[in-house]
Amino acid sequence: MTESTATIHVGDKTVEVPVKHGTVGPSVIDIGKLYAKTGLFTYDPGFTSTASTESEITYIDGDKGVLLYRGYPIDELAEHGDFLETCYLLLYGDLPTAAQKAEFDYRVTRHTMVHEQMTRFFNGFRRDAHPMSIMVACVGALAAFYHDSIDINDPLQRQIASIRMIAKMPTIAAMAYKYSIGQPFVYPKNDLDYCSNFLRMCFSVPAEEYKVNPVLARALDRIFVLHADHEQNASTSTVRLAGSSGANPFGCIAAGIACLWGPAHGGANEAALKMLGEIGTVENIPKYVARAKDKNDPFRLMGFGHRVYKNYDPRAKIMAKTAHEVLSELGVKDDPLLEVAVELERIALSDDYFIEKKLYPNIDFYSGITLKAMGFPVSMFTVLFAVARTVGWIAQWKEMIDDPEQKIGRPRQLYTGAPFREYKPVGTR
Ligand code: SDX
Repeated sequence: MTESTATIHVGDKTVEVPVKHGTVGPSVIDIGKLYAKTGLFTYDPGFTSTASTESEITYIDGDKGVLLYRGYPIDELAEHGDFLETCYLLLYGDLPTAAQKAEFDYRVTRHTMVHEQMTRFFNGFRRDAHPMSIMVACVGALAAFYHDSIDINDPLQRQIASIRMIAKMPTIAAMAYKYSIGQPFVYPKNDLDYCSNFLRMCFSVPAEEYKVNPVLARALDRIFVLHADHEQNASTSTVRLAGSSGANPFGCIAAGIACLWGPAHGGANEAALKMLGEIGTVENIPKYVARAKDKNDPFRLMGFGHRVYKNYDPRAKIMAKTAHEVLSELGVKDDPLLEVAVELERIALSDDYFIEKKLYPNIDFYSGITLKAMGFPVSMFTVLFAVARTVGWIAQWKEMIDDPEQKIGRPRQLYTGAPFREYKPVGTR
């Protein structure tokens, strides 16, 4: 990383601060010593202009609609690779050789079972509990079972905790789904690949043989690749902040799941499908587009807009293609939701409001249509996002732990509350 300097004049103070330049993308002004030199904080509540860390994992060019995992374009990884290859790349920094891939697949596959006592948690949940609430609870509870992999200062324990989480997330997600529909849990099978195993754990029943549809398994694998990581988004920043205190990795990932659940973030795929259902027909679209543009109406087009992408989300393009592939494989003709989605996209992208504010479909706009067609209920959509994003959270958490400059994250504030005042006994108030 190269450096230069910037001069900041504030009142009668002038300070020189370093400017750091990465390999690609915006440079940063290092304000780490600003408070010490000027007594001033910077202020950026939504972190719209703030880099929280240096990272080598994922690069997004929002203006060009580019997404790179360790330098490799997302469309090539989604097209030519598979999800566990992407996991290896995000975790270790480069694409695996055939031998490395085989060894990694073997390790993940043999950690897919969960401790049998995990099943007892489920009896405490209502059957209609949202599966994301179950995911937060069960993933956090993994720390109660795996005491041999929560010492974050031991690289070996960090490694085994990482493999365990990537391997067990699909199992716990499938258990949450099975519990919600009153069907028995299905154990993983080691002779199946990651996504085939997950589909079988979700949709097979003891009463008959289940045959995985390879087209659906491949589509789900591609969807997982698209969701694997995304720089310092809200849930990743949550995982990093939780991890900066030295919290155990299972608890940090549980915190990330809780943040992802929000409708402005990973919960948007569930909200987008509900919105398409509420719009219902192409004739209703103008009414909803008008509501999305009305500043006095809190309604937003879910699955549209992005803090970083001011161009088409490259993942949304691949999601749209996958939606058409899955629907045609399943023989679904003229899906009304897809019809509304395609027409809504066309109308929105030609509307001045969306053009001026650079609002394009994001990854959540088409994913729900595909997942619904595969048989997942809407409540499972964000769970699948969490399953895929776990490797990104872990890779970012690992990078933070390995960073020699790492310290606990502790932002400051602009205080606008009451200045000092004397206590008043209750009789005098
Ligand atoms: C994900 O960060 C990541 O990388 C996230 C993610 C990942 O992989 O981790 O990509 C996954 O979370 C995708 C985003 C999913 N969320 C949604 O689809 C929810 C709908 N979209 C928005 O709420 C919104 O676009 C955000 C939250 C995604 C981004 O919000 P910002 O960057 O804070 O932008 P903003 O809310 O300040 O909006 C800018 C303007 C506003 O109008 P003005 O106040 O300037 O007049 O655009 C408008 C907003 O009102 N706007 C929308 C809109 N999104 C923004 N208007 C209508 N419909 C929308 N969807």
